[in-house]
Amino acid sequence: MTHAHISTWAIALILFVVVLFLTKAGKEKGAKITAMILRVFYILIVVTGLQLGWTLITNGQYALKMVLGIVVIGLMEMIAVRTRKGKSTVVVWVLFVVVFAYILHLGFSLPMGM
Ligand code: HEM
Repeated sequence: MTHAHISTWAIALILFVVVLFLTKAGKEKGAKITAMILRVFYILIVVTGLQLGWTLITNGQYALKMVLGIVVIGLMEMIAVRTRKGKSTVVVWVLFVVVFAYILHLGFSLPMGM
């Protein structure tokens, strides 16, 4: 299950970068389709994450991991939408990098995985 979880967020990360490049390149249709596939992967990240740890949801560190996982997804979506609308993404990028780094640390230091 950990592999499925890592695969889903790794693929989501790649799709996220593709969406940003397509948006920047003005390829609206491609960006839209990729963004929809990306949203499916958001769901898969949450499902595989919950499969890993929903029974541990009352454990503070696991609850934090799950909440921050959803926060990271929210930040990715905000960056994608704000990039499309031409709004500033600096603040959201900073938050994304910080929370992402922290969640990687948290995920790998929690006991169940690799
Ligand atoms: C983009 C978002 C996310 C990233 C980058 C991420 C990253 C990770 C990483 C690196 C691990 C450790 C895997 C291992 O040790 O082999 C992990 C495990 C885990 N993740 Fe996520 N995750 C994300 C979203 C979520 C979400 C949304 C949930 C729950 C709703 C969740 C729940 C869990 C649980 C329960 C574990 C098991 C922890 C353990 O090893 O004991 N994650 N995640």
